Amino acid sequence: MSVKIHRKIEMVDLVSQYEKIKTEIDSAVQEVILSSRFINGPAVKEFQSDLEKYLSVKHVIPCANGTDALQIAMMALGLSQGDEVITANFTFAATVETIAFLGLVPVLVEVDADTFNIDVKEIEKAITPKTKAIIPVHLFGQCADMEEIHSLAKKYKLYVIEDTAQAIGADYIFSDGIRKKAGTIGNIGTTSFFPSKNLGAYGDAGALFTNDDELAKKCRMIVNHGQSTQYYYEVLGVNSRLDSIQAAILKVKLKYLDKYAAARNKSAAYYDKAFSREAKIKIPVRTKNSSHVFHQYTLTLSGVDRNKLKEHLASKEIPAMIYYPVPLHSQPAYRNQMNEGKKYPVTEKLCTSVISLPMHTELDEETLKHITDSVLEFVNK
Ligand SMILES: Cc1ncc(COP(=O)(O)O)c(C=O)c1O
Repeated sequence: MSVKIHRKIEMVDLVSQYEKIKTEIDSAVQEVILSSRFINGPAVKEFQSDLEKYLSVKHVIPCANGTDALQIAMMALGLSQGDEVITANFTFAATVETIAFLGLVPVLVEVDADTFNIDVKEIEKAITPKTKAIIPVHLFGQCADMEEIHSLAKKYKLYVIEDTAQAIGADYIFSDGIRKKAGTIGNIGTTSFFPSKNLGAYGDAGALFTNDDELAKKCRMIVNHGQSTQYYYEVLGVNSRLDSIQAAILKVKLKYLDKYAAARNKSAAYYDKAFSREAKIKIPVRTKNSSHVFHQYTLTLSGVDRNKLKEHLASKEIPAMIYYPVPLHSQPAYRNQMNEGKKYPVTEKLCTSVISLPMHTELDEETLKHITDSVLEFVNK
C-alpha cells in the first residue's frame, strides 16, 4: 500500500521540484565536477547561449547574482557620482542599494496600487537635468509599463535598466501586439537566479541581457575584473562570474521554465477563484500589456488584521510573507534630499496591507484548498 507523505507547506518547495529533475541535475553537476572547469567552464557558455535563444536577445552576460547585475549595468552605462536614477519605492532593497552604492542618487517614485509596479504618471515629475536612468522593476512577475517608460526615456534621453529579478520569462505585449521578453526591451536588463526565483539556481547567480554589442562587451569585461584578455585591464571591474555548477543547473531548469510558469499560473487561478468575491481581499490585477509569471501571489487586504491572519495561517502550518513591510524612502540607508518630505501614500498603504501566499511549481489542489479555506475562515469570522 502506498502512503502519501504530507510535506510541510513552504513558500517555495524546491525539494519536490528537484525530485522530478534529479537525474538530469545530478549528472549535470557531476559533469562539471569531473571536468574541474568550475570557473568559466563550458556550462556557462552553454547556458548563456540557451538563455539568449529563449529570450531572443543578442547577449546574455552571466554573473554572480542579481545585485551585482544591477551594479554592473550601471557601471557599464558609465553612470557617475551624483547622477540621478529613478526607480520604484516598492521593491527589494537591491535595486536601490546598488544605485546608492555607486554614489548615484536613488530617486524613488510611487507605484500603482493595482500592479505594484512603478507609476508611469509619476516618473516624469521626478525627472531633473541630473536624471540619467530609469530602473523599472517587474515586480512579482508582471512587467511594468515599458512602452510608456520607453517613450519617456526617449524624450529625456535616459537609459532604461529593467530589473527582471522577479519576472524572467514574462512577455511584455506592445500596443501593436508585438511581444518581447521582460528584460530585453530597455538598454539593458538584469536578473537574479536566487534559488527561490522562477529560474532558480542552487546558490547565488544572476545575469544581464542586452542587444547592444558595445554594452555587452563592457559588461563581459566588468564581470571578470575589467579584463579584455587575461591580465589586461581595460575598465574597472569586479569579480562576479557565474559558477559553472550553477550554470549547469540553470541550463537544465531553463528547459522547464515555461512549464513552471504554467504551474504557477494554475495555482494563481485557483487562488483568484477562491478570493475574487471576497470584498476584503483584492486579488492581483493582471495588466493587458504583460503576461504574468507569478513570482509572488500577493493579496491586498482591507479591514483584515494582517498580523492576526498570518498567525492564523501559521497555526495551520501555512507560511505567508510580507513583501515589503517598509517603504524604501523611510529606510535610514536610502534617505536622501530627493525623497525627503515626499509623500508616497500608495506605497505606504501597500506596505501595511499586502500579504503573499505560498507560490511555487509544486502546489497541488489539496494544499491550495487548505490555504484558501484557511484564509477565508479567518477573513469571514
Ligand atoms: C527586484 C529584485 N532586484 C534585485 C534582486 C537581487 O538579486 P540577488 O539576490 O540575486 O542579488 C532581487 C532578489 O531578491 C529582487 O527581488
